[in-house]
Amino acid sequence: MNYAAIGLDRSRDTALYLQLCDALVAAIDSGELSPGERLPSERDLAAQLEVSRTTVINAYDELRARGLVRGQVGRGTFVDARPDHTDAPFAWRGKVSLGALRTLDPTVGWITNAASEGYPLGPVITFAAALPAVDTFPIEKLQTALVEVLERYSLRVLAPSPTAGQPELRSAGAQHVGARPEQVLVVAGATQGIDLVARCLLDPGDTVIMDRPGYLGALHIFRASGTSIIGWDIERADLDELEDLIVRYRPKLLYTNPTFQNPTGRVLRRSVRQDLLELANRYRLPILEDEPYRELGFDGPGRRPAPPPTLFSLDRNALVIHIHTFSKTLAGGLRIGLVAAAEEIIDQLKLFKQRSDVTSPGIEQFLVARMLSGSFFNQHIQRLRGEHQLRATCMLDALEEHVPPGLLALEPATGGMYLWLTLRNRLDSRELLRRAEAEGVVFVPGDAFYADGSGKHQFRLCYSAVPPAAIDEGIAKLGSLLST
Ligand SMILES: Cc1ncc(COP(=O)(O)O)c(C=O)c1O
Repeated sequence: MNYAAIGLDRSRDTALYLQLCDALVAAIDSGELSPGERLPSERDLAAQLEVSRTTVINAYDELRARGLVRGQVGRGTFVDARPDHTDAPFAWRGKVSLGALRTLDPTVGWITNAASEGYPLGPVITFAAALPAVDTFPIEKLQTALVEVLERYSLRVLAPSPTAGQPELRSAGAQHVGARPEQVLVVAGATQGIDLVARCLLDPGDTVIMDRPGYLGALHIFRASGTSIIGWDIERADLDELEDLIVRYRPKLLYTNPTFQNPTGRVLRRSVRQDLLELANRYRLPILEDEPYRELGFDGPGRRPAPPPTLFSLDRNALVIHIHTFSKTLAGGLRIGLVAAAEEIIDQLKLFKQRSDVTSPGIEQFLVARMLSGSFFNQHIQRLRGEHQLRATCMLDALEEHVPPGLLALEPATGGMYLWLTLRNRLDSRELLRRAEAEGVVFVPGDAFYADGSGKHQFRLCYSAVPPAAIDEGIAKLGSLLST
């Protein structure tokens, strides 16, 4: 912002400090000054505007009282937020913590709402939500499992569970991820797992290295923790590049989603996984391995649905914290996930979980444990993979049919839930989204997956949650927008 251009008029009745305050409010409101930006020091601004330092101090005090800026000892004065509506009775923004202000990005909320309000075939066709084909879930099996759980555990389902989780689920979950029950903490979905790890390991000012592009929910969590986020190009997956980043930034944590990665669908090869572990061990760097999709590989010529082993299973040095969730294989609404790691860190995470929500709801835990026992889960996954593969093919066919050739670059999915696309005509995907929303179709624009705002010409389409007919309808609408 060009502060020297602020015009203060000594002949007006309004005090100079209020004129200055109004000018800065207008700049914050218009976005010329954005949240997080540092204002000049009082002395510098006073010199630039040829006013007394008291005028600037009073203007900054007024902005602080309105909750628009915040002083940080020894660092200066920073823009906090846009002004509340003029009729807001209380400036809540000014009371909110700095960590909360770092997470103003509404993308996760927007995706979740689009999914829950219209799911699966409501007013919008949502290629945004990262969900399995829940519309094909065998609901009668859920009903049977629920009756069995109630008969077997009776009132126990209503008692608070141990913080680490119901022993039945810890045990079934441990078997599922290749750990011992004491190494497992039951959490409210992968999101809570990542959040607990961030709270437990990271201080403001630390650095995290994560996939670039990478899972946007993790990006939000790390941003809120006040860490610097450095991207490791997951498409190249070059370990020399990663080592350079480690040496340069001395990170506290490496976060990766190595299998059917969100958003690119990439799978890290076994040899890369082994070298990655070796590198992390050399630099004593903990790895947070987020693995929601590994069971969702497609069959294909020369391809097995089973991906390479998890980093957790290959780790010989107890440096991997593994996160698993049933949101992508059973249902996102169950909110059941698992963290598996060395007992020392699980004990620490347990304390954070206790502070956050004491324990996860019991009925869901018994239900998931029940569904993991016997043959249901494996049969379900096999069927789900088939359904997802069908939907992926349907989306690829629809793109070929409805989108002008050469306009999009993409690689067919080999598993997971997404297609990751690049607009070759350099159209901004947020602009495409704006137009698509008006037609009742939504997706996630590419910049949501980058810490540095790159990815403007990319976007992610999730095929798994949308039935084939709606996939064709939605892609036809996108295609006609891209043809004009
Ligand atoms: C890599 C990754 N981790 C975690 C999650 C969130 O999982 P949950 O719904 O279990 O919190 C997602 C969902 O999109 C994801 O893609």
